[in-house]
Amino acid sequence: MKGRRHTDDFSAHCKRFLDYTDSFKDVPDAAPLRLKVEHTFKVYEHAKFIVSSLKDSISPELGRAAVLAALYHDCGRFPQFSKYRTFLDAKSVNHAVLSFQTMRDRDFLQEETSRVRKLAQCAVLLHNRHRLSPMLESDARFVTDVVRDADKLDIFRIMVGHLTSALPERDAVLLHVKDDPERWSSNIAEDVLAGRISSYSDLRYVNDFRLLLGAWMYELRFDATKKALAESGLMAEVLSQLPSDEALRPAVEKLKAMLEECGIAGRRS
Ligand SMILES: [Fe+2]
Repeated sequence: MKGRRHTDDFSAHCKRFLDYTDSFKDVPDAAPLRLKVEHTFKVYEHAKFIVSSLKDSISPELGRAAVLAALYHDCGRFPQFSKYRTFLDAKSVNHAVLSFQTMRDRDFLQEETSRVRKLAQCAVLLHNRHRLSPMLESDARFVTDVVRDADKLDIFRIMVGHLTSALPERDAVLLHVKDDPERWSSNIAEDVLAGRISSYSDLRYVNDFRLLLGAWMYELRFDATKKALAESGLMAEVLSQLPSDEALRPAVEKLKAMLEECGIAGRRS
């Protein structure tokens, strides 16, 4: 069926994205940018997985907007790093705004319907917001949540790889927090216990980062994401790397219980 094939075919967009990233290949010390290409395709695959798990309950247009938003969600990372040499938004620009502007100005979604285009652009713009407005229209919320769930799944993979290693791009990935295996911040542990998501700017130690990654489980929306996270073993690994400190135990126990629930939710999907 022609319409259906069009709905599921993203090959022209994948090529467009790769051609775009290729234009940054001469940026000096571009290892972090190569990681962003890899990250993008993982997020894209996760988004397709989430959408396919829901295909009987959503329109093809909604699914297409979500997958395209995932593919282009971090396109602003390339000009951000090229100009400012950092992925720290606070020291450069909001990369989600730059991604939105880039996909709009380069007309990446030129052949899509205006509904798909608007939904995808909205999700890209909002994908890194600390909180989403409860007033957000339900389709826009859905598309944004697919990107946010898919993005988190891959950030778990990247972080687990970098929390214990000393790769050259480690600093950029860990956003310059201090690597002291026994230290953690009590306000971040309190956020975990209160069900709050800490801000990146409050993180001081690598263990704070581990706690934040754990707290992200509060925000996962889709059972498919929870299932993938529980089955990957990544979260279990992150939690096992936290220090066995009596004062930290309640927060760690809470995160372990949440991971258990992710596995249960996953078995429903
Ligand atoms: Fe992003």
